Amino acid sequence: MAKRPLILAVDVGTTKVSALIGEAHPEGELTVLGIAATPVVGMRRGLVFEVERVAMAIKDSVNRANSMAGTDLKDAAMALNGDHLSLVPGQAGINLKTGTVRPEDVAGATGRAAQQVPQQSGRETVQVIRRGLSVDGFRGVVDPVGMVAHQMEAEVFVVTGATTVIRNLRRVATLAGINPVLLIPAAKASADAVLADDEKQIGVVHLDVGGGTTGITVYRGGHLQYLGVVPIGGESITADLSVGLGVVTTQAERLKLEYAAVGSAREGNLEVRAVSGQSVKVIPVKELEEIVAARVDEWSSMVEDHLSRIEWPKGPGAGVVMTGGGSLLKGLKSSLEGRWAWPVRLGAPIGLAGLSDLSRSPGYAVVVGVAKNSRQYGVTSEQESAWTRLVQLWLSLWN
Ligand SMILES: Nc1ncnc2c1ncn2[C@@H]1O[C@H](COP(=O)(O)OP(=O)(O)OP(=O)(O)O)[C@@H](O)[C@H]1O
Ligand SMILES: [Mg+2]
Repeated sequence: MAKRPLILAVDVGTTKVSALIGEAHPEGELTVLGIAATPVVGMRRGLVFEVERVAMAIKDSVNRANSMAGTDLKDAAMALNGDHLSLVPGQAGINLKTGTVRPEDVAGATGRAAQQVPQQSGRETVQVIRRGLSVDGFRGVVDPVGMVAHQMEAEVFVVTGATTVIRNLRRVATLAGINPVLLIPAAKASADAVLADDEKQIGVVHLDVGGGTTGITVYRGGHLQYLGVVPIGGESITADLSVGLGVVTTQAERLKLEYAAVGSAREGNLEVRAVSGQSVKVIPVKELEEIVAARVDEWSSMVEDHLSRIEWPKGPGAGVVMTGGGSLLKGLKSSLEGRWAWPVRLGAPIGLAGLSDLSRSPGYAVVVGVAKNSRQYGVTSEQESAWTRLVQLWLSLWN
């Protein structure tokens, strides 16, 4: 009997590590057999800062997902996050030896385009993403296999990341007893979990608003056009509230979740316990909201700085889709709609079966996307680095 193509996906976020065990189906659905999240300390802005503590959280999350699924998977596809990630374009053409496009020609042109991207010291390739094929000068060919032609050209994006960051992620994974066989940029994974094909076609901005980072991706014409990461997320609002209102972080977080709302213009006071002792502190709601508004304003400007690098005369036809826990901040959606004059919606992972309640929440989009991106590879047995490279190449042909 054929082995079930089970996948272990892991997202080491700034505030939580999530792990998912999924079963891939040929028609593209993902059945979630196990899913878990463990709070983590020791991450900052998407990067590993305390190896032991992060490894413990990974171990706990993976163990719980495995025991829920009745599996013991160790080979994992992992999300890679942080503002060190960048997208470098490359393109190359090949002459078609047989006069007809074969799958290996598509692979060859894609590989050659990726090789055109110069290697920078201290950085390495994370993923090769194909963004377009032309056949004899005709651009935008989706599936050229079988076409009669003389020449084919591929355009790619190579996602590169800082070697130190990647090594440290691999190190914590190994310490946690798992084997990272595949790395996928978190922002892209999240977008792929929630965006529909037609949104990617007509143009869409996706924001994964996490605790320490915001991943930005733009799709148009069915392909990824931009990927960037802003090193700010929901944790910055909590930190500002803690300092600005003189309350401990746990209180600041609670105030944010329960009361904060962007642009609400409410009046009145809140009563909370002060940092020292048991005395009660009175906080004007207006003060709380001004702190939140200032940080949201700064965050929005940083996102706009990225979006201004994209050339599009009419903006994204399908608007903006947000995921990540930070996207749940009350009033954020309408504040952005007012600011950008584009429709904004909250995204949830699609194409799921099984334990889908948790996995459909916006904070799990990255781990679902990692599983979906890697589902055809059946990450189930011990692998070697050569296998990893093969998977990376393989992925490049399918994205
Ligand atoms: N209802 C809510 N309202 C406002 N903020 C929320 C809400 N729920 C969660 N958050 C915030 O979402 C953030 C965590 O989001 P998420 O789990 O997506 O981050 P992460 O993946 O751990 O971090 P990152 O992606 O930056 O590495 C926290 O700052 C949390 O306070
Ligand atoms: Mg995240």
